[in-house]
Amino acid sequence: MSNPSILILPGDGIGPEVMAEVRKVIDWFGANTDAKFDVSEDLVGGAAYDAHGTPLHDDTMAKAQSVDAVLLGAVGGPKYDVLDFSVKPERGLLRLRKEMDLYANLRPAQCFDALADFSSLKRDVVAGLDIMIVRELTSGIYFGEPRGIMDDNEGGRVGINTQRYTTDEIRRVARSAFELARRRGNKVCSMEKANVMESGILWREEVQWVHDNEYPDVELSHMYADAGAMQLCRWPKQFDVIVTDNLFGDLLSDAAAMLTGSLGMLPSASLGQPMENGRPKALYEPVHGSAPDIAGQGKANPIACILSFAMALRYSFDMGDKADLVERAVEKVLADGLRTADLLGEEGVAPVSTSEMGDAVIAAIATLSDA
Ligand code: NAD
Ligand code: IPM
Ligand code: MN
Repeated sequence: MSNPSILILPGDGIGPEVMAEVRKVIDWFGANTDAKFDVSEDLVGGAAYDAHGTPLHDDTMAKAQSVDAVLLGAVGGPKYDVLDFSVKPERGLLRLRKEMDLYANLRPAQCFDALADFSSLKRDVVAGLDIMIVRELTSGIYFGEPRGIMDDNEGGRVGINTQRYTTDEIRRVARSAFELARRRGNKVCSMEKANVMESGILWREEVQWVHDNEYPDVELSHMYADAGAMQLCRWPKQFDVIVTDNLFGDLLSDAAAMLTGSLGMLPSASLGQPMENGRPKALYEPVHGSAPDIAGQGKANPIACILSFAMALRYSFDMGDKADLVERAVEKVLADGLRTADLLGEEGVAPVSTSEMGDAVIAAIATLSDA
């Protein structure tokens, strides 16, 4: 049988820097274990625009559709701010999500004990935190029609985006959330704004329907998303799985990042329907962006991207034991006191570079796998 295939799209800014560290992890598994992958690499975002005049070439899209998993670094940057909206780097990522139909975006926020003092919140509030935000990723206001900027016929202009959700779109992401909850703390909190949005009313009713008809054993609660944002900062440990729409999920997951100490810590998995081989269509990427302010300086934290690969091991390749190994290695390097610059704050601790952090994770993987 051939090895499982991975397409790597490093992208822009710190994307290629953090992806280089993931590459080391993949190579380590290839050399030392039975987890061997066929890896290919291609362009996305600004890098693809520079080469082809489009943020995602059709050939790259076709490759993404045919591999077992895609790993993506980050896209975007100030250099591309002047581009027409239709060819901005972010459009490449959105096309991948939409055409691969990656409707369930899993964004876990876990606070490693060694980092409990790095959160902007008190240690008590975040220590031991382990929540999962499930963000709907292929619909809602990101994709709804009509959209655009047009004349308002009164001498001004109007910018339009449309929030739109169908029964099926809500039910399928709700099922993903309930399935995950059964394997975790068995609780789902659904967030919308049913008090002001019709799409929110439908969201609440359909999530409740899936619960009552298919997952009555899972505890379900509903919360307005604004109150949810507040509760996420007040007492995040009340949550297990949060399921929410595309835009609210984007905002809530960046907020959740600060519970873990840094945006450089948060991985994600974007999953779609099962392919012929039974694996879900999947793309793995850190929650953070291309961080133009630190790009090219070797300062980026590669952990979010490395943990995204761990999610690939778990959700695409059925290698949960190897995913655990990567996660325990990350925990070990943090417990040993290694910090990239985003995690500084302790006196007398000098930051390590992106590649030093990657090397330390590899060393920890090797140590722990021998133990
Ligand atoms: P960002 O996530 O790139 O950066 C926000 C802040 O977090 C910056 O101060 C940055 O230095 C820091 N940061 C982010 N990742 C880090 C890491 N791994 N290590 C250390 N520090 C890190 O968000 P932004 O500045 O709002 O956006 C920059 C560009 O990235 C924009 O073009 C945006 O559209 C794009 N973006 C892309 C993605 C993606 O590719 N998935 C996600 C978010 C933003
Ligand atoms: C994210 C990013 C993206 C989003 C952008 C870059 C398209 O912020 O993945 O969280 O808004 O979904
Ligand atoms: Mn975001």
